[in-house]
Amino acid sequence: MNWENIYKLALTWVKEAGERIRSSFDQTLNIQTKSNANDLVTNMDKEIEQFFIGKIRESFPDHKILGEEGFGDELKDLEGIAWMIDPIDGTMNFIHQQRNFAISLGIYENGIGRIGIIYDVVHDELYHAFKGKGAYLNDKVLPALSETNIQESIIALNATWVMKNHRIDHNLLIPLVRDARGTRSYGTAALEMIYVATGRVDAYISMRLSPWDFAGGAVIVEELGGIVTNLRGEKLEFLNKDSLLVAKPGLHQTILKDYLKEGKW
Ligand code: IPD
Ligand code: CA
Ligand code: CA
Repeated sequence: MNWENIYKLALTWVKEAGERIRSSFDQTLNIQTKSNANDLVTNMDKEIEQFFIGKIRESFPDHKILGEEGFGDELKDLEGIAWMIDPIDGTMNFIHQQRNFAISLGIYENGIGRIGIIYDVVHDELYHAFKGKGAYLNDKVLPALSETNIQESIIALNATWVMKNHRIDHNLLIPLVRDARGTRSYGTAALEMIYVATGRVDAYISMRLSPWDFAGGAVIVEELGGIVTNLRGEKLEFLNKDSLLVAKPGLHQTILKDYLKEGKW
């Protein structure tokens, strides 16, 4: 398998998709709802996913594709090469703010992340990593992550988890929020993972995400020495929804051991 070729093409396609999104900004979006009134999808989410699928099928007909909007394959296993695509992560931000969203792409071989690409379209910031070959912001090498403690850390998490209809015991998060230096919520899992990768935040916690939300980010964060697991500290499976804890080394262990261990996540 010519991985260099896959990497190069994937980067080109992500940039091209970003250009399509940017040039859609002055057009009226067609907005629809999915599972509930706040679960939004636009014509651009669908168009961008179909754009990627067309390109991948043409160049790599034997690769599998998992896309959020359902135009790809239904993945039963991760054998072979699988592309995991979130055409627009942060659709609510895309609609309301025209910023704070990203294209997210992970390419996996037999369940192992080889390539991660996240494109902050508005800032023209392309984050990418090839496993074992370093992680980059555009052409600039990103430095490895260093350890930090909870008192000096900023943690990204989403306040909607305190709603009563969520099964989780959100009270367990109170000590974590109290002990951290600060919390942030950006509404885009892909960029929140990138913020951990770049040290803008120190950890990111989510109760329920899908493989396309974290597939690209996991490769980039791990390439920089960050730790990516679910909230039980287990390796992610990439076939099902799961919770997520992404953090700098050291801090990841502290959060798991001192704050999350009693939870039924
Ligand atoms: C969502 C965003 C959001 C996260 C949601 C995701 P979408 O992705 O990443 O931050 O909290 O769980 O579904 O729907 O905008 O691609
Ligand atoms: Ca998403
Ligand atoms: Ca999406």
